[in-house]
Amino acid sequence: MNIRLCYASKRNENSDDLLQDLRDILTEARDFNTQHCIYGVLYYADNAFFQCLEGEQAIVESLFEKIKTDARHLEVKHFGTDPIDQYTFKRWSMKYVQRNTNIETFFLNLGENSFNPGCLEPNSLNAFLEELLLAEQTTLPVAKKVGMVNRGVNPF
Ligand SMILES: Cc1cc2nc3c(=O)[nH]c(=O)nc-3n(C[C@H](O)[C@H](O)[C@H](O)COP(=O)(O)O)c2cc1C
Repeated sequence: MNIRLCYASKRNENSDDLLQDLRDILTEARDFNTQHCIYGVLYYADNAFFQCLEGEQAIVESLFEKIKTDARHLEVKHFGTDPIDQYTFKRWSMKYVQRNTNIETFFLNLGENSFNPGCLEPNSLNAFLEELLLAEQTTLPVAKKVGMVNRGVNPF
């Protein structure tokens, strides 16, 4: 059975290099997701993540167990898992959408003055997924994965 799983989380601010974290996450996501026929979207703004994962139930659920323990984010709020007949994000192993005015307006209309995915409810969640589907994909320049231990360390 294929499912869609959505969650929101807060960035771990102890992790000091946001851009590198985003690049690493997207590299890991695209490698794994391509190999396992997982599709989805990731949005980041205002220290918060929102991600939607689509794919075979067992694979998505075991990936989510791993993602939940990832130290780059905290306070993971799972919105639920729904069976799906077709994929919404089939074009993307992981579409990355960066801060965007339509999404800011969307949250303003929900009465939130910043991106606050934790406030989403079933109706607003579906409307938000529509916004993400319409949004442009952002390309972050691909950089070699650095990893926490090697950041800022001069080997000489
Ligand atoms: C917000 C966020 C989203 C992530 N999304 C994915 C994803 O879609 N696919 C994936 O394989 N890893 C994703 N990861 C990374 C995983 O948590 C994990 O680091 C990665 O799968 C490599 O794990 P491993 O080396 O222990 O196997 C994400 C991490 C974060 C913080």
